[in-house]
Amino acid sequence: MINRRDFLGSMLSTVVVAGTVGFPRFSLAASGSDDPYDYVLTAEPADISLVPGGVTHALCFDGGYPAPIIRGRQGKTLRILFKNRLNEPTTIHWHGLRIPIEMDGVPFLSQPPIAAGEDFLYEFVPPDAGTFWYHPHVNSMIQLGKGLVGAIIIDEAEAVDFDHEEVLLLKNWHVNEDGSFSEFTSPRNAARMGTPGRWETVNGQHKPTFPVPANALTRIRLLNVDNTLIYNIAIPDHSAWVVAIDGSPVNEPYPLQVHPMGPGMRLDLAVVTPAAGESVRIKNAKGRLMFDLVDFQVEASAFKRQAGPVKSLPANPIPKPDLGHAETVNFVFEWEGAISPADKDGNSDPKFWTINRRAWDKMTADYIPDPVARLTLGKSYIFNLRNNTPNSHPIHLHGFIWIVLNSNKKDIVPFHTDTVLLEKNETVQVAFVADNPGRWMYHCHVIEHMKTGLMGYIEVA
Ligand code: C2O
Ligand code: CU
Ligand code: CU
Repeated sequence: MINRRDFLGSMLSTVVVAGTVGFPRFSLAASGSDDPYDYVLTAEPADISLVPGGVTHALCFDGGYPAPIIRGRQGKTLRILFKNRLNEPTTIHWHGLRIPIEMDGVPFLSQPPIAAGEDFLYEFVPPDAGTFWYHPHVNSMIQLGKGLVGAIIIDEAEAVDFDHEEVLLLKNWHVNEDGSFSEFTSPRNAARMGTPGRWETVNGQHKPTFPVPANALTRIRLLNVDNTLIYNIAIPDHSAWVVAIDGSPVNEPYPLQVHPMGPGMRLDLAVVTPAAGESVRIKNAKGRLMFDLVDFQVEASAFKRQAGPVKSLPANPIPKPDLGHAETVNFVFEWEGAISPADKDGNSDPKFWTINRRAWDKMTADYIPDPVARLTLGKSYIFNLRNNTPNSHPIHLHGFIWIVLNSNKKDIVPFHTDTVLLEKNETVQVAFVADNPGRWMYHCHVIEHMKTGLMGYIEVA
């Protein structure tokens, strides 16, 4: 469905092995015109099969799960004609992409909600290459929880050297044994780490086995598209190199140990696959135990790569903050159990979490508070992110990519990210240039935390 120019373009950078059949492939969204980076993307209810013998009345992009991978190229216009065929309003947010506010997909702050039955054209030039994702920013607990999550991959402007690629979406579904949805939230869980889904999947399959070619330099793109859970990624039996975190290349690739990925976060690994007949298992570490997420079965191929250190990916053009003249802004994330508990009839939504003592828990046209900070366009800033809670929070800012400078709990080699996972009682300093004007969402990506107060926005003008 994707046209030839785009197909050849992607062949040059991340090559799918010729002549291997039976690879798990994703369908690409239908191209709307002859333009190489045009997509049509439809959100709609769809029945899918997740648990054996069960049917799940999900919400899907293009009628299935996983959603189509949207692929663009760094510096080239990408157009996505989005069709809302849900029974409720929505928007699409492009998580991690530094694009104009009009395309950021946040209701009221960047665009009116897209009503049921309406279309909206998203059009932008992605400045950075990497692994990003897309999701609605309306009724997020339900819309994301029921399946509206997908990968958007921006290929490097210059070709990079990989033989093969895998894109893995991690999500635990809130489903019962018959496939019907279970509760997405409860006040008790929302006030703690959130409500975990019970059915763990990678690309919609529970502990799947996928084939990979032997002796191939493989790029594994992991995306945590879950509402709640942190996955601790490990590949204990093979050497894997961390090449990018949350879409941004690391300066110097380093061997993977255990990498925590909170909701919204991504990880790009480079692995040289072993000989045919072997397997490579990606695991989720819980305490000292390791659980399989996915099992790659290695099949014969013509590749002849040797394991060893890998080259770094080309750096993205993220402006360098001027730390000497940067202004520091403090943010304290807190737990306030008693702000506004649900009343006896369960009428008001509970609020549990605050940013600088303020909770914002719903987005409606007449309920947009003041920004949590006003920044001057073009200036450098250091954010002090202080987590005064006993829980972890993946804190995400739209429209920018931070450089993480330091933490009071661990040694940091500075790296770029759009989502910082704050541990309990951790303080992290991040810096960036406020070069993108607009009102930018700033929230925890544990969706129940966001929906019970841990959300705000930053105004850059
Ligand atoms: Cu994935 Cu408001 O973001
Ligand atoms: Cu985002
Ligand atoms: Cu949180």
